[in-house]
Amino acid sequence: MNVLVTGGTGTVGSQVVGELVGRGVNVRVLTRDPAKAKGLPPGVTGVAGNLLEPTTVRTVFDGVDAVFLLNAVSMTEAHEGLMAVAGMRLARVKRVVYLSVHHADSFAWLPHFGSKIGVEEALRKSGLPFTILRPNNFYQNDYWYKDALLQAGVYPQPIGDGGTSRVDVRDIAEAAAIALTSSSHEGESYDLVGSELHTGVSTAAAWSRALGRPVTYAGDDLDAWEQQSLTYMPAWMVFDFRLMYATFQKQGLKGSPEAIARETALLGHAPRPFDAFAAETAAAWRASGA
Ligand SMILES: NC(=O)c1ccc[n+]([C@@H]2O[C@H](COP(=O)([O-])OP(=O)(O)OC[C@H]3O[C@@H](n4cnc5c(N)ncnc54)[C@H](OP(=O)(O)O)[C@@H]3O)[C@@H](O)[C@H]2O)c1
Repeated sequence: MNVLVTGGTGTVGSQVVGELVGRGVNVRVLTRDPAKAKGLPPGVTGVAGNLLEPTTVRTVFDGVDAVFLLNAVSMTEAHEGLMAVAGMRLARVKRVVYLSVHHADSFAWLPHFGSKIGVEEALRKSGLPFTILRPNNFYQNDYWYKDALLQAGVYPQPIGDGGTSRVDVRDIAEAAAIALTSSSHEGESYDLVGSELHTGVSTAAAWSRALGRPVTYAGDDLDAWEQQSLTYMPAWMVFDFRLMYATFQKQGLKGSPEAIARETALLGHAPRPFDAFAAETAAAWRASGA
């Protein structure tokens, strides 16, 4: 079986590649940067291209049985996704697994949520066999906060106390590999969530337990978050994420018991807990001398 992974050099896609290789699948990874192809696992083929380019989408899906479609958050996210759907339709791809976002429809005014609604709808109308994965906020986002956690004892992601069912990227990758290698999930949409509801304060407490030192939540002040974030993120992204965090603070992003049960059945195990992720990460940071 030949599977093309888009986003295969990134956080989720690289884990999907690992899961597929472990299942004996022939994997191709699309990347805009041929230099990154050199870092792919042995046996994985890098394909140079860009989903914004007609030459790429006209050719990259040829000879592919299934596609993992992930589009990075960008100002052209929706267009990249729609170009990919059009290309997969021309190539008559037999199976597509699309990475969307949890509650994309409820919060469609958020630019990176609404972009995914457009791509989901295009898939539904395309005639392609598809599965949609809708993950919550990733545990692995916390890698971005390593310095804040270790140097300042602060947890800065402003998720508030609305309650967010954060999820481990490894559960997302496993779900993707299962859906890519079996026809049983065609037409299905899965929310991918953790079993617990997290808040800024509870996440700081989990990091405090894992690191064995005090960690406090930086708080819900989105003006302060925006000012700080503009020093390293583009303004369009800060605008989008600020609206998202305001939504998390007010309403949360909550998984239902039914969604957790369906996810558990899909994976064959319960979602990985945050405490285990934090403990593993803290141990890895300690081992690296951090
Ligand atoms: N972070 C969260 O908590 C969260 C939660 C739910 C959903 N999501 C969704 O997850 C997605 C991001 O996943 P991630 O964190 O794994 O992404 P990532 O680490 O930022 O990686 C982005 C990937 O997209 C590829 N890419 C970017 N532009 C491309 C283009 N024009 N053509 C082809 N490939 C392109 C990059 O490949 P090259 O650089 O090699 O070209 C890279 O592999 C977004 O859709 C986001 O909304 C995130």
